[in-house]
Amino acid sequence: MVVASAPAKVILFGEHFVVEDKFAIAAAINLRAKVFADFNDSNFISISSDINSPNTIKIPINMIISGDIHGYSPSITPLLLILHEFSFKHHLLDRGVDISIKSEIPMGAGLGSSAAVFVAFSAAILKLYNVKFNLYDVIELASKGESLAHGKPSGIDATISAFGGILLYRRSQGFNRLNVKFNAPIILGITPEHRSTADMVNKVLKLKYKYPSIFNLIYDANDKIVEEAINALISSDINRLGELLNISHGLLSSLGISTLNLERLIYAARNAGAYGAKVTGAGGGGAIIAISNESTVSSILKAINDNGGKAIISYISDYGVNVDECSN
Ligand code: PMV
Repeated sequence: MVVASAPAKVILFGEHFVVEDKFAIAAAINLRAKVFADFNDSNFISISSDINSPNTIKIPINMIISGDIHGYSPSITPLLLILHEFSFKHHLLDRGVDISIKSEIPMGAGLGSSAAVFVAFSAAILKLYNVKFNLYDVIELASKGESLAHGKPSGIDATISAFGGILLYRRSQGFNRLNVKFNAPIILGITPEHRSTADMVNKVLKLKYKYPSIFNLIYDANDKIVEEAINALISSDINRLGELLNISHGLLSSLGISTLNLERLIYAARNAGAYGAKVTGAGGGGAIIAISNESTVSSILKAINDNGGKAIISYISDYGVNVDECSN
């Protein structure tokens, strides 16, 4: 049996801007998705998942090989596309496989839950079939799933989940690892609103194409914030980083992605002592992040929970995708 795991991410700066080839800074955090895979003696791929509600489906291998993968739920079809691509590009799917998915990452909250599942899933199947692979093979397979799930993904989610740590990312240039230490807590505040990343990306792009001269300035301002944020990270200036998170949130708000629930959590976190707080990910609901020192964590967690959010404390993790063989 093979077990692979991959982390969730937070986008510290640059979500949405990154879709239009601007800079973003993303970090892996210590919440993970796990995928277990083992050969079975049938001609079926069986996928069971504890995400949403526990369920299992079985698909004949020959349907996956031929690409006849339509009519399944939106959470399953991207996984079948990854298997189809794997069979086409890496190794013929010539044996049945039992796959089980378990995740501790909140879904639909902008924390890269689907990318983490796709990254762990891709690594598990490559390892099970004993294919020689590197992280770029994993990202390429996972990105097939992301494209189907999200429409026009920048690729940032799969990349950060595969590599871990903190990355500076630009669509046309790929990424650079930022070798900085950031040990302070990152508090997540999850709103009850779920939204589709694809819908939010399209909404922002529509507004951008309507007001290009205004939006070009806002998009350039994002890159200035990222420049300053890199310096703040290098000099471990958490005060400055917090202020830059607040400025970044202002820009993201102007793109039309904030909601009353998000604003409530952001102000609750700031008033409870956070250095800064902003929406993370696509917005329209989903999650906020707040940075703080250890002494204000408990009051920020309480403030978020008291204002209708679900608060989770997380830390940046250097630990990207990981895959191991183990006995049953
Ligand atoms: O799926 P989310 O909420 O993590 O959003 C991803 C970030 C976006 O910039 C909005 C989209 C993308 O593909 O980069």
